[in-house]
Amino acid sequence: KRIVILASGNGSNAERISTYFEDKEGIEVAAILTNKSTAKVLERAKRLQIPAFYFNKTAFSNSDAVVGLLRSLKPDIIVLAGFLWKVPLNIIRAFPGRIINIHPALLPKYGGKGMYGDHVHQAVKTNNETETGITIHYVNEHYDKGAIIHQAKVGIEPSDDIDGIANKVHQLEYEYFPKIIEDLLNSQNGED
Ligand code: GRF
Repeated sequence: KRIVILASGNGSNAERISTYFEDKEGIEVAAILTNKSTAKVLERAKRLQIPAFYFNKTAFSNSDAVVGLLRSLKPDIIVLAGFLWKVPLNIIRAFPGRIINIHPALLPKYGGKGMYGDHVHQAVKTNNETETGITIHYVNEHYDKGAIIHQAKVGIEPSDDIDGIANKVHQLEYEYFPKIIEDLLNSQNGED
């Protein structure tokens, strides 16, 4: 089984997923794609010896070419791990039920365009939430509105600052994202 990861930034989830599957027979991260030429995820891909591809806005907007690239990678699942652009409809339609995303909050709360990274944790703190978490969901044509696959929660203390909340959420991501991906891949019947 082949995982293709799209990431725009640090890539800690991409690395965690790659290392999780290193000793799992029959499942591998086939490639990492990014829209940011300076993204730290590219360094991680190099170190992990995973093929990496960079595309800019123009290239990404030629979504037929992106579909072609993705098809050539033969993904069984396409994982958005901190990918900040909206996925064009024809890419979603080319891989029905095979594109998932992780959001660092309990959707439907704190979702939508612009709600990523510390913006989310700041909003959670500002609203004095006593808990937050992660949402792993299918990607559809609306930001953060695809069917939810899994959610996990963590308590927030008043003393938690933004970094503290971010760390708690990252721990959930690292614990659950690889396992959910593994479950999804194992549940795909023997189709192509
Ligand atoms: C994660 O918090 C994830 O939930 C969100 O973007 C962040 C990516 O972090 N979608 P990293 O690039 O994997 O470190």
